Amino acid sequence: MCSVKIAVIGSGDVGQALAKGLVEVGHSVMIGTRDTSKKELKWTKKHDKSKLSVGSYAEAADFGEMAILAVAWHAAENVLGIIRPELSGKIVIDVTNPLQFSDDEGPQLAVGHNMSAGEMVQQTLTDAHVVKTLNTINFKNMVQPQFKDGTPTMFMCGNNESAKAHVKELLTELGWQDIQDIGDIEKSRLLEPLCLLWIEYGALNDTWDHAISILKK
Ligand SMILES: NC(=O)c1ccc[n+]([C@@H]2O[C@H](COP(=O)([O-])OP(=O)(O)OC[C@H]3O[C@@H](n4cnc5c(N)ncnc54)[C@H](OP(=O)(O)O)[C@@H]3O)[C@@H](O)[C@H]2O)c1
Repeated sequence: MCSVKIAVIGSGDVGQALAKGLVEVGHSVMIGTRDTSKKELKWTKKHDKSKLSVGSYAEAADFGEMAILAVAWHAAENVLGIIRPELSGKIVIDVTNPLQFSDDEGPQLAVGHNMSAGEMVQQTLTDAHVVKTLNTINFKNMVQPQFKDGTPTMFMCGNNESAKAHVKELLTELGWQDIQDIGDIEKSRLLEPLCLLWIEYGALNDTWDHAISILKK
């Protein structure tokens, strides 16, 4: 893929990891945040501003020819309300997991079974092409994933075939080799619980460096 301007909507661990990885493979990125002076983003200043910059959510969404939604789920509705016009007609990669936390239980899904975050994002961004992916891996392994036990699988789903083809190309650039298209955005109902399985495995085995892999005989 030739160099693309990408909005990374979110400045947490995921937003920073993806921004760094995308710049490394030749794309131009603007990270969107509420606080452009956030100390965690100081590292971005080492980069050429034309390649990596930080702006408000709306500035980033306006900058990007495509976007990645990487905000906390509880904030997603508000953030999408701000950037919806800027994302019209664009590919939006949704990496969110609709997690809710309580003191006495582990993380739970805030939506599930008969609805999903991916579908809610697509319903809000009616004119955008939402592709759900990268929600079943730790931010540390989202870019150039390397596992001694084999090749990790990354699933994706979305309603627009051309958008998924572009996202597949981007994931390939980020080092993913086994990318599985599992259908339309409704399949987010399967991908979001898979994140809970990934978390459960991590908690039971005291590791956060694992990945899901489909093995074929
Ligand atoms: N961490 C992982 O390894 C991982 C893996 C797969 C998927 N995910 C999903 O990816 C998304 C991002 O995860 P993360 O770990 O990077 O960080 P996070 O803490 O879930 O989200 C950080 C982002 O959410 C924004 N945010 C939080 N509260 C907000 C509010 N009230 N209004 C507006 N924005 C608000 C923050 O804004 P500021 O920029 O202003 O601080 C920041 O940009 C989440 O949906 C998560 O479930 C995470």
